[in-house]
Amino acid sequence: MIPFNHLGIVFNTFGSFIYPRSVRTELCTFLQPLPSQSKVLDIGAGTGILCQFSYECREDLNFVAVDPAEGMMKYAKAYVQTHKASAEALPFENDSFDVAMMGESLHHFRDVDEALKETVRVLKSGGEAVYI
Ligand SMILES: C[S@@+](CC[C@H](N)C(=O)[O-])C[C@H]1O[C@@H](n2cnc3c(N)ncnc32)[C@H](O)[C@@H]1O
Repeated sequence: MIPFNHLGIVFNTFGSFIYPRSVRTELCTFLQPLPSQSKVLDIGAGTGILCQFSYECREDLNFVAVDPAEGMMKYAKAYVQTHKASAEALPFENDSFDVAMMGESLHHFRDVDEALKETVRVLKSGGEAVYI
C-alpha cells in the first residue's frame, strides 16, 4: 500500500512531470466545449494537478477534488474545492457534475466497480468521464 498521505510534497514537486505535454493539450481540447461554470470532479485528485492543468485553459470552470489523503490535497490550489473522501463513496448528490476526471488514480482504488458506479451516479445525464 502506497503511503500517499505522506507523499504530498513529492507529488507537488514532481507530479506534473509524469504527464506529457500532449496529455495536457488533449485535456484542454476535451474541456473546450463545456459551458462556463460547468462542474468538474477530480477523483483521486492527489495535489489536484489535473485541476491545475484544466484551470490553465479553462479558469471559468468549477473544480472539485476528492481524495482520502489530506496530505496530498493540502497542496491543491485555492480555486479547487477539496473533500476528503474515497471514490467508492462520493459525498455528492446524484447528477452533480458535468465531467469526472481520474489521473493515474483508478488503479489505486480499493473497489474499481464501486468507484465507477459512483462516478456514473454523480455525473449529470450526458456527462463525461476521462481517465488519464
Ligand atoms: C498516483 S496518485 C495520483 C494523484 C493525482 N491524480 C495525480 O495525477 O498526480 C493516486 C491518488 O489516488 C488516491 N486514492 C487511493 N485510493 C483512493 C480511493 N479509494 N478513492 C479516491 N482516491 C484514492 C491516492 O490518495 C492518491 O492521491
